[in-house]
Amino acid sequence: MKLSAPALRARKRANGSAPLVMVTAYDEPGARFAAAAGVDMILVGDSVANVMLGHEDTLHVTVEEMAHHVRAVKAARPDVHVVADMPWMSYHTEVADAVRNAATLIRAGADSVKIEGGRVRLPAIHAVLDAEIPVMGHLGLTPQSVLALGGFKVQAKTDDAADLLLAEARALEAAGVYAVVIEAVPSAVGTKVTSALAIPTIGIGAGPDTDGQVLVFHDLLGLGARQPAKFVRQYANLGELATQAIAQYAADVRAGTFPSAAESYPNPENLSH
Ligand code: KIV
Repeated sequence: MKLSAPALRARKRANGSAPLVMVTAYDEPGARFAAAAGVDMILVGDSVANVMLGHEDTLHVTVEEMAHHVRAVKAARPDVHVVADMPWMSYHTEVADAVRNAATLIRAGADSVKIEGGRVRLPAIHAVLDAEIPVMGHLGLTPQSVLALGGFKVQAKTDDAADLLLAEARALEAAGVYAVVIEAVPSAVGTKVTSALAIPTIGIGAGPDTDGQVLVFHDLLGLGARQPAKFVRQYANLGELATQAIAQYAADVRAGTFPSAAESYPNPENLSH
């Protein structure tokens, strides 16, 4: 059953809720597999730029491209809450742009949007919330900040940085986001932020105590081109299986064993050719 943003907001493990499960998906098959597996949320992440489109970072996808992938996910008709990432530059200019771009993603089929960043993004977050669009926050390693951060690095490694992250998380909660992703921080920081907030935290490299976890589809299934990050658990190696299957197909074609008679249409009796 699809969980609404208010229903998700109530899912704190401290109150006895089961941990939330979120996975990314970018197209109809991915959404179908995720929904059949029983996840709570599908994130149409801007990681589509890395894992589907081969970019080095997430800065190269536009709102239109994100909407295209949201529509592809919705084509699976998943009975699951779909979160759409607002891509870089879709909420960094005028707040009116943020609202218009969030609405584009909602009209493409998303149930809520995710916005990276803390207090500096509050005007955009307030404006999107005022338009009645639920917002998920994202703190810690925010991949859209890769140039400013100088790389994909673990965040909040000092007491001061951890305090700052907690203050940002509290500000997002006060603004009205229904949940917050915490990415690539020491476990103790994930634990502290989770116990300080009344809204759920969803960790990715934030340790075992967050209220939920999220993984990227291609990392989880072994479909990625690169060595996955430390926090990834790879549950299958579908990339290797895919290469083996395609190599077998190539070998069968070259050996003349594909297609067989069973894989060909029979010739009608009146066909003279
Ligand atoms: O785009 C994405 O996949 C994400 C997750 C890493 C949370 O934002």
